[in-house]
Amino acid sequence: MSKTLPKDFLMGGASAAYQVEGATKEDGKGRVLWDDFLEKQGRFSPDPAADFYHRYDEDLTLAQEYGVQVIRVSIAWSRIFPDGAGKIEPRGVAYYHKLFASCEKHNIVPYVTLHHFDTPERLHEAGDWLSQEMLDDFLAYAKYCFKEFPEVTHWITINEPTSMAIQQYTSGTFPPAEKGRFDKTFQAEHNQILVHARIVNAYKDMNLGGEIGIVHALQTVYPYSDSKEDKHAAALQDAFENRLYLDGTLAGKYHQETLDLVKEILDANDQPMFKYSDSEMKEISAAAHKLDFVGVNNYFSKWLRAYDGASETVHNGTGAKGTSVSRIHGIGEEKKPDDVETTDWDWPIYPKGMHDILMRIHDEYPLVPATYVTENGIGLKEELPENATDETIIDDPKRIDYLKKYFGAIADAISDGANVKGYFIWSLQDQFSWTNGYSKRYGLFFVDFPTQKRYVKKSAFWFKKLSETHEIED
Ligand code: BG6
Repeated sequence: MSKTLPKDFLMGGASAAYQVEGATKEDGKGRVLWDDFLEKQGRFSPDPAADFYHRYDEDLTLAQEYGVQVIRVSIAWSRIFPDGAGKIEPRGVAYYHKLFASCEKHNIVPYVTLHHFDTPERLHEAGDWLSQEMLDDFLAYAKYCFKEFPEVTHWITINEPTSMAIQQYTSGTFPPAEKGRFDKTFQAEHNQILVHARIVNAYKDMNLGGEIGIVHALQTVYPYSDSKEDKHAAALQDAFENRLYLDGTLAGKYHQETLDLVKEILDANDQPMFKYSDSEMKEISAAAHKLDFVGVNNYFSKWLRAYDGASETVHNGTGAKGTSVSRIHGIGEEKKPDDVETTDWDWPIYPKGMHDILMRIHDEYPLVPATYVTENGIGLKEELPENATDETIIDDPKRIDYLKKYFGAIADAISDGANVKGYFIWSLQDQFSWTNGYSKRYGLFFVDFPTQKRYVKKSAFWFKKLSETHEIED
């Protein structure tokens, strides 16, 4: 029997400014941490990405046609404040007013992220999430947006604080590309939790009547075996990636057990504990009681086993299956069970992980009123057939299969009591990927990167039907 979603379940598509807009040098936009990093790396350029800066109306037309009711977009901070603070760029402000007006025209509600990995360059150089200046300027920018864009009723403070911090300071895949700095990782994470709390508190004080939440990358972590050692490795990985953050934003306090696990990771790597004060924890607690929703980004799960060698991480940024490695001193080694299938980028496909993380939020973090799946999807190598015409439809059976399974898991979590109000596929259209460039495609709509022409994928038809019927086809 097919599973169903509630009638008021919202179907959406997700994007992020730097990954879709392109136009990084247009209309006075300021530089961000990625510009210099990608230029030096020389692998791929963020321009023109999906050229959303010029083609947003075309994409929103398609989105509406294929059953998209809500969309995640982010504001590029550096389009509004090119230098992160101070002088405002009116052309950037005007662009977002036009984008939101287009959303309204197409009957699509925007969920707007204030920071999606694109720190302005000056603030990145000042220390990014480790600097007080960044925290102050981010709060000021958020307040400016709340006043300037009353047409936005759903705000997201930060996209994936933990994944940004880990990639900046542990795995080194994001600028400034440091490796093995757990102290900086946890400090950057706490600082983001703090400034998120300040923004939530400020937003609620402004009485604007809208909703505000935060989005987290939540990879469900399981022990590789039933051994005590593997279970402990899984608990450490979970504290590292999920638990500190969930505690801070959803419970408004760090549980002692979480802090003990964090300290164990830091001690094993001879690094100091992150700093936080009682007064900061009061702000964090107040915000957790006012938060309207949490967004869950879940693509895959992890299995951990005990490991006591030196840290070694290799990122698969090319789609060469089986090339990624993650062994972290003081945590453990990632090792998936043989029968779990993976994508070409080594991401294990495990829908039960989605169910389990949604249930965990429901069971362990009762303060949070609502949950959205704010990112989920599959990255595939896809090509436009040589003889393509305007009517060509891109066949993506693997995506349809993935979506069926993950939607099934979401429906199961809802039946089990989780309050999941909607789903945003990553991604609406093919986009630029931070560490994989243009070869890892996630979209419902194919973007031919040289010409920027859009083609519909079969999964978009599947998505539209689900949006209309709320029945998940077997
Ligand atoms: C999420 C991010 O972590 O995963 C997105 O919020 C990102 O910005 C997405 O693109 C998919 O990751 P990747 O590395 O496959 O592009």
